[in-house]
Amino acid sequence: MRFELTGCFRTSANVDHAVDDITGFFRDEASKLLSKGVPQGRGALVEKIWCEGQSICFKLVSDRYLRAHDGVLRLRRPLARLLGKRHRIGIRRVEVRDYVIRFPAKRPLKRLKIPYVKDIEYMDGELVLTLNVSEAEIERRVPDRIVSLVEDKLAMDEYGGKSEHWKLLWESEKREEKKMLDPTQQLVEAKWIKHGASRGQWIYGPEITKLFRVFEEIVIDEIITPLGYSEMIFPKLVTWEVWKHSGHAKGVYPEIYYVCPPKTRDPEFWEEVIDHYKVTLEVPIDLIAEKIGKPIGGMCYAQCPPFWMFLKGETIADESLPFRVFDRSGTSHRYESGGIHGIERLDEFHRIELVWCGSVEEVLKDSEELQERYKKIFTDLLELEWRMAWVTPWFMAQEGLTGLAEEREVGTIDYEAIMPYRNEWLEFQNLSVNGDKYPKGFNVKSQSGKPLWSGCSGIGLERWASVFLAQKGLEIDEWPPAVRKRYGKRPKGIKFL
Ligand code: SER
Ligand code: ZN
Repeated sequence: MRFELTGCFRTSANVDHAVDDITGFFRDEASKLLSKGVPQGRGALVEKIWCEGQSICFKLVSDRYLRAHDGVLRLRRPLARLLGKRHRIGIRRVEVRDYVIRFPAKRPLKRLKIPYVKDIEYMDGELVLTLNVSEAEIERRVPDRIVSLVEDKLAMDEYGGKSEHWKLLWESEKREEKKMLDPTQQLVEAKWIKHGASRGQWIYGPEITKLFRVFEEIVIDEIITPLGYSEMIFPKLVTWEVWKHSGHAKGVYPEIYYVCPPKTRDPEFWEEVIDHYKVTLEVPIDLIAEKIGKPIGGMCYAQCPPFWMFLKGETIADESLPFRVFDRSGTSHRYESGGIHGIERLDEFHRIELVWCGSVEEVLKDSEELQERYKKIFTDLLELEWRMAWVTPWFMAQEGLTGLAEEREVGTIDYEAIMPYRNEWLEFQNLSVNGDKYPKGFNVKSQSGKPLWSGCSGIGLERWASVFLAQKGLEIDEWPPAVRKRYGKRPKGIKFL
C-alpha cells in the first residue's frame, strides 16, 4: 500500500527568509521524526519540499507503517517550534492539496460512495483512491477508517461468503420417533395461530401461547431461579446512540424496522391527514411521510444492547459482580427476506434474553453452567434431536463481519435442531461470550479495576416451538412428560364456523 500526500503548512507570515532553516529541518530533523518507532527502511519519506510565500509545501510518501497523514501531524509541531523561535512565524493550518492512496487489488471494486473519497479508480492491479480531506479529517483519523473500510471490502470480495464460520461442537443422539410435519402448517390448520396484519407476524392463540409459557416456566425453573437471574425490563425502541455504542450502526440497516416520530403533536398539523382519511378511507401515506421526522432509531433487534445504557459510564461495585439479569418484556423485530418461513423466521418474535457480566473467569464459568443446563433441557425435558455449533459471534455478524473473534473464548454457540419435514437444521437459540465488547463499548468499569466481560443468550420462543412441534407434533398426549405435565389441560381456544 502506498500513500502520497501533497500539501502545505500555511504560515502566519512569508517564509522566504526562513528557507534555509526549513530546508535544514526537512533534511535532518524530519527523517528522524518520521523514522521513530518504524521498522528500518519503512514508513514515511519527504519526497519534495518547496516554499511559496506563506506556504511550506511538501510531498510525503509512505507505506502503512507510518501513514503519510500521520507523518504530517508528526512534523507540524517541531517545525512550528523552530519557525517560532527563530523567525516568529507560526503555522496556522495544514492544507491537503492532493491525497492518493494505492491498494494492491486483484479486481476493481464496484462503484461506491464513500465520504471524503473523491474518486476510486482501478489501474494495473491497483485500486487508486483520491481523498478529499482537510486537516480536521486527518486529526479525526478519517483516512485510517477509509483504509480499513476499503480493506474490508477487498477482503469480502476475495472470500465472499466463504469465510462464514461454522464448527460442530456437540451433537445429541438421533431420535427415531420424530414427526415429519411442518410446524407452521400444523398450527395454521389447528387454528392455533393466524397471520398478523404485518409481514412475518403471527397472532398466537391460547393453545400455543400456553406452550410458550411452558417453555418460559422451564427456563425459569432450570436456569433463572437456580442461577439467580433477576428480571429487568429493557427498552424496545432503540436509538442510534445505543447502536453506535454496540456496533450495530456499522451494519444493521437492511434489517431494522425504523422508527420516526411525528414532526409535531399539534392536532392542527395533522388535520389534513385526518380529514383525508375520513373522506377517502385511504390513509395518505405520502402526506404522512412529509409530516414525520427522520428515524430516531429502530425497534428492538438484538434485545440486549439497549440494556447497556443502564450501565453506561458507570463503575460497578464489586459486591454487584458478577450480575445476571434477563428480559422478556417485549418483541424483537427484523426485516427478514421475503418468502414463506412460517413461524420459523419472523419479522416479529418473542425472546427471553439472558445477560451476565463479571470477570473473565466468571463469565466463562457462567457460560459453561448455562451450557450444561441447556443440555439437560433439550435432551431430558424437550427430548429433542439437536446440536451445538461454534459460529461467528452474533455481534460481529450483526456488524456485517464474518470469521471469528480475536480471543478464542469469545464467540457464539448456535443451538440447532433438525426439522425432519425438510431435513434441515434450524437455529433455535444462541449463547455467547461477548468478551469486553459491551463493557468497552458502553464504557463500564469494575470497582476492582479488573477487566469486565459479558455474555448473553437469546431464547427464541417461536424457534423453540418450531423445533419442538416439528419433532413432536401437535398431539399434546404425545409430548414428552416434562412438557405435558406443565402444559396440563388444553386451554379453551376460539372456534370458527
Ligand atoms: N443478543 C443476541 C442476539 O441478538 C442474543 O439474543 O443474537
Ligand atoms: Zn444479547
